Amino acid sequence: MNKLTTVEKLDKKQIEDFFSEALNIEKTWPNLKKVGENKTICLFFWEPSTRTKLSFEHAAKALGFNVLDFSPSLSSVQKGESLEDTLNTLISLKIDGLVMRHPENKISEQIAKLLPKEVLFINAGDGNHAHPTQGLLDAFTISKLKNISDSKVAIIGDVKHSRVIPSLFSGLKKMDCTQIEFFGPKELIPSNFTPQKNDITENCLEGFDFLYVLRIQNERFLEDENLDLQNYIKNYQVNDKFLEFTKFDGKIMHPGPVNLDYEITKSVSNSNNSIILDQVENGLYLRAGILSLLID
Ligand code: CP
Repeated sequence: MNKLTTVEKLDKKQIEDFFSEALNIEKTWPNLKKVGENKTICLFFWEPSTRTKLSFEHAAKALGFNVLDFSPSLSSVQKGESLEDTLNTLISLKIDGLVMRHPENKISEQIAKLLPKEVLFINAGDGNHAHPTQGLLDAFTISKLKNISDSKVAIIGDVKHSRVIPSLFSGLKKMDCTQIEFFGPKELIPSNFTPQKNDITENCLEGFDFLYVLRIQNERFLEDENLDLQNYIKNYQVNDKFLEFTKFDGKIMHPGPVNLDYEITKSVSNSNNSIILDQVENGLYLRAGILSLLID
């Protein structure tokens, strides 16, 4: 297997192998086995990114890969070249792997099919379909603190437009997590995500180990969708008062980027219980681990 489009297609053993490789990478970072020597990875990002793109670049370079950075805004896409022709151009340039982010739902499945068998492919986020490496790095972060199968995870916010949640949910389930609950307004949590609580009640987060906070992903709202932001902040913002009211005292997670003082306050995001930056660091090891195992 050298193409990663969704977590759904992985089995538990493959996820465990990624985690185990990430732990090995963490122990030896930055002196890694140069599995990427004489190989070239192209970062093919059609949407903005900070942590995903930079962690892939940093990880790939530490593994000895040459890294090509494709930016659509500076490429011949601006002269009308199609995605397929652009892809064929990269293949002709003898790339060994492609890491792609794109706004279109499920485009990763089409791209994976268009690539030659020997070219590695990793979906770095496509529409609100999937973001497998983010979901896996979050599950990896949880696994370093507590057995995933014993963990109680609350997810709050804009599940509907999130590409991370399908990947995280699938990853946690495959690792035998049975205690996952969703919190937020009905219009932001599709009915298939259960159990869900649309009202925040006293003590409702007591006993949860992790609270995974999501940004309102305005860029993926359809024209007829809207949200009363002030109402959202009043009822669902994760702030000190919210934590006290809900009796949550576990670890705070967020995939980033954070919109401070919207879904979460600065004081909670920077608090001792926040592991948001640990997620970023673990993303580096996990992505290096995935690159190492998929390039073999
Ligand atoms: N979580 C995430 O994908 O962040 P970036 O958009 O910064 O890569």
